[in-house]
Amino acid sequence: RSKLSSQKEKTLGLIKPDAMNKIGQILDHVYRNGFMITKLKMCKLDRNEAFEMYQEHRGKPFLNDLLEYVTSGPVLAFEVVGQNAITNWRKTIGPTDPATARSEAPNSIRAQYGTDKTRNACHGSDSLTSAARELEFFFPSTGPKRRNTAQLSDCT
Ligand code: TYD
Ligand code: MG
Repeated sequence: RSKLSSQKEKTLGLIKPDAMNKIGQILDHVYRNGFMITKLKMCKLDRNEAFEMYQEHRGKPFLNDLLEYVTSGPVLAFEVVGQNAITNWRKTIGPTDPATARSEAPNSIRAQYGTDKTRNACHGSDSLTSAARELEFFFPSTGPKRRNTAQLSDCT
């Protein structure tokens, strides 16, 4: 297998508020798809934090609904590691709209656990740049918040 076509990558996974009663099923889905979880944190975002996380959607018509939803309860953030994890994790979660997911990717996380276009169960970073930024947002590599983050390599 060539290194060019198969890169070990890290990306951000996020279980959104309405799927927080399905943590077990969704994390099981992560492992069944061959990924490792190397960092994990439950938190509740305030509006400023949610806006920072979703800054790429500034000006979009759905931004307000998205911020309301994602701040409505706790979320579970995790670092997903695997071959081509950025692309493959997005395949695992499925299309943005769970209705589309149910017809086009019935085994995907959004097909099984999503409700509608806004309450769609899960997030996945869309590029190498977004993955790095979003992982640093939830799991800062320096500074006081670092204390709250364990990673698997701390335990071996
Ligand atoms: P987007 O980045 O387009 O989707 P994805 O999560 O698949 O990368 O949009 C970010 C989130 O915004 C999406 O997960 C749910 C919400 N959203 C809406 O509420 N309405 C919409 O029409 C779109 C496109 C997204
Ligand atoms: Mg996106």
